[in-house]
Amino acid sequence: MTSLEIEGGVPLRGEVAVSAAKNAALPILAASLLTEEPIHIENLPRLADVRTISRLLQGLGTEITEADGGAVVRTPRLTGHEAPYELVSTMRASVLVLGPLLARSGRARVALPGGCAIGVRPIDLHLKGLERLGAEITLRNGYVEARARRLVGTRISFDLVTVTGTENLMMAAALAEGTTLLENAAREPEVADLAHLLIAMGAKIEGAGSERVEIQGVSGLGGARHRIIPDRIEAGTFLVAGAITGGEVTLRGAIPDHLTAVLAKLEEAGAAVQSGEDRVRVRGPERPRPADVITNPYPGLATDMQAQFMALLGLADGTSVITETIFENRFMHAAELRRLGASIETEGNRAVVRGVRGYQGAPVMATDLRASASLVLAGLAARGVTTVSRVYHLDRGYEAMEVKLAGLGARIRRTR
Ligand code: EPZ
Repeated sequence: MTSLEIEGGVPLRGEVAVSAAKNAALPILAASLLTEEPIHIENLPRLADVRTISRLLQGLGTEITEADGGAVVRTPRLTGHEAPYELVSTMRASVLVLGPLLARSGRARVALPGGCAIGVRPIDLHLKGLERLGAEITLRNGYVEARARRLVGTRISFDLVTVTGTENLMMAAALAEGTTLLENAAREPEVADLAHLLIAMGAKIEGAGSERVEIQGVSGLGGARHRIIPDRIEAGTFLVAGAITGGEVTLRGAIPDHLTAVLAKLEEAGAAVQSGEDRVRVRGPERPRPADVITNPYPGLATDMQAQFMALLGLADGTSVITETIFENRFMHAAELRRLGASIETEGNRAVVRGVRGYQGAPVMATDLRASASLVLAGLAARGVTTVSRVYHLDRGYEAMEVKLAGLGARIRRTR
């Protein structure tokens, strides 16, 4: 069981490069199904989730050739149309092949994602939207069976903001007949980055990144070259690392615009932040100040940053209230933070965090991707040694995190 062993108490100092965004890379790789032409992705993060979706795509006929930090991806012809349960159950973002498969071939058979650690996470809004475009959806033996002789554009209004729902529908609508209007669409930068690629492939999309996206279907899409945006959640995680250790960390290759809610919350918690063209610097406070956190769809504070802020606020000189509005069970890290000495009461989707003066190192266990990040952050601040087990959760979304942290002076190593 691979673990990370951290000897805390070292203020992090220095510069760290931000990797390409996981949550942009996944839909962008899925978009390769929409054309026979090659797509040259200049920068792909080396992550478990990217390897998972690559395996899934290769099973559908996609050829992926690594090329200097990125890859050339092409699907000359589909050799299948199924996303099997063993892959979907390990990564729910596998559902992102549903829209492209329907648009490309009129057929798709995708395992229904089970729940996951942070919540039930249904895909009913994806399916409703695809039915609105003319797909016939049947649920059978735990699989979504979808067929569409042709997809016809229409107006789709999402009951809830859904990131991958917006992305699935945008990809399906790109090859539908006529115009599709997505209302209450997700505004996350990763949605806009996917649209940026689709437009380069010949799609006609207006308004991506806003809550109203208009897609005029075209008869076919071509190849393109694309550079993926930096990962704002990895960036936010490293900013909190600088803040929680009372150090000074500069991120290279970040987009400050994608971090406004995170930077504002860090300042409220007593950190000093400075933004440049493509870099952001944080200087941690002696001790964090309390701050309330409410997660929201972008541009609100990302749910994917909630666990990291809980670790930081757990050391504040006062009480903070954290409200998680996106997922119904995303406080799994609270119990593990308590093992390090945090004083956190959770009730429903609210957590009351009473700051303590310090954490004491202890063995803790990761439960999901961002929870594992929050345990690493707490370990960096804790006195003594913290061992974070089940690090495979972390490897899903962070490229060589311990290498980057060690580059900032952290005493951290991976043990087999
Ligand atoms: C994306 O997941 C991200 N993953 C998640 O990041 C992120 O936490 C989430 O958006 C919210 O920002 C990727 O982009 C690959 P949603 P997604 O559909 O699209 C409910 C990480 O750590 N919902 O926006 O699956 C859903 O249950 C991961 O990198 C429905 O009810 O999230 C949730 O409560 C974790 N029906 C809310 O909407 C649907 O059909 C938001 O979910 C779809 C969603």
